[in-house]
Amino acid sequence: MTEFRSPVGTRDVLPPESARWERLVALFTSLVERAGYGLVLSPLFEDVAVFERVGEGTDVVRKEMYDFEDKGGRRMALRPEGTAPVVRAYLQYRPTLPFKAWYVAPNFRYERPQAGRYRQHHQVGVEALGTDDPDLDVEVVALGRSMCARLGLTGVTLLLNSLGDDVCRPAYLEMLRAFLARQDLCDEHRARGQENPLRVLDCKRDACRTATQDAPRLADQLCEPCATHFDRVRTGLDTLGVAYVLQPRLVRGLDYYTRTTFELAADSLDSAQNAVGGGGRYDKLAEALGGPSTPGIGFGLGIERLLLACDAEGVFPAPETTVDAWVVDTTGGAAALALTAELRTAGIAADRSFDARSMKAQFKAADRSGAPIAVVVGDQEAAAGTVTLRDLRSGSQETVARADVVDHVRKLLP
Ligand code: HAM
Repeated sequence: MTEFRSPVGTRDVLPPESARWERLVALFTSLVERAGYGLVLSPLFEDVAVFERVGEGTDVVRKEMYDFEDKGGRRMALRPEGTAPVVRAYLQYRPTLPFKAWYVAPNFRYERPQAGRYRQHHQVGVEALGTDDPDLDVEVVALGRSMCARLGLTGVTLLLNSLGDDVCRPAYLEMLRAFLARQDLCDEHRARGQENPLRVLDCKRDACRTATQDAPRLADQLCEPCATHFDRVRTGLDTLGVAYVLQPRLVRGLDYYTRTTFELAADSLDSAQNAVGGGGRYDKLAEALGGPSTPGIGFGLGIERLLLACDAEGVFPAPETTVDAWVVDTTGGAAALALTAELRTAGIAADRSFDARSMKAQFKAADRSGAPIAVVVGDQEAAAGTVTLRDLRSGSQETVARADVVDHVRKLLP
């Protein structure tokens, strides 16, 4: 073992596992670009206030943020999530609305690491700004759901709720506070429950679970516009055949949500970390960041969690990664150098051994690589201006003119 390891709570992703990541991102890209979303790349760190403004009451911002002072004395933070940076970028550049963005990026949260919970995790996600049309909610929720289906996941439940807005939520919170004041809550929420009563509904401890069983539900207290909006979202999902479960206790771990909120929960994962993704509306976020009122909705899917759910369901295995041809050169290596370059230029994936290994060692490497074809150059071939092509699966082989190698390899490929 060497002296250095990846930091606690982080992981290295190496081949062949990394090939799954590539495929997952490619699937997501095709899914969302087909729906008109464009890639947004934003910095991995921002002015700490970008996140403080949107999540002061949340653990993600209050306790878990990787914040620091840079050498110029600026207070910065590694991004704990991807929504605030996209909204900040929108306000900075003001692209035409609706602005439909997607991203793939790491996020950093100083959490207690455990299975499915890391200090650096990665999300693919979308954000759509500029309208509160419920059809957009339906589009976004359905996209999140489709991504899970595309991976082959069948045991994922879409949990749906509405968190209301500035009109109906304050009255509901008062009602909830009054209710909670009469309950016996867990230690943490006995002290802090009144401060952010919605958190109590999300608390996984038994005391809070029992105490909140009969708590008033926000869904029953929505103002007329929020109720109508939520109805339209549900009707739209029904129209598209997107199954969901209403979850009145669903509150999200970030402060900015209004109206539609949702989570994708994998039945196959341990309940504490079973959310493979989540999202919702954040119609007041742009204003919180000092911009004009700009409604928006989005979601983030955790790549690590999605892959854990795939493992648990036995779907979306790492794809076979191999080259098409392995060049075996027993004449010193110069032939392999030229042949691999020529094959690659022709679009054929090719690799070789180095260090003038023995023929036996080179064939072993070829087998290990999984390449279907070996392109062999020995003294005889070199002298005759030929190469021998061996089908590594059947063992059959033929000798062809060196000049025709690309055409012949192509013909042998499946
Ligand atoms: P979030 O629920 O905090 O939402 O994170 C989204 C997903 O990222 C989670 O469902 C989970 O799969 C994954 N995730 C979060 N934290 C960790 C962690 N420590 N380790 C592993 N995976 C994790 C957001 O971040 C919002 N920005 C989503 C959103 C987009 N809302 C609107 N637009």
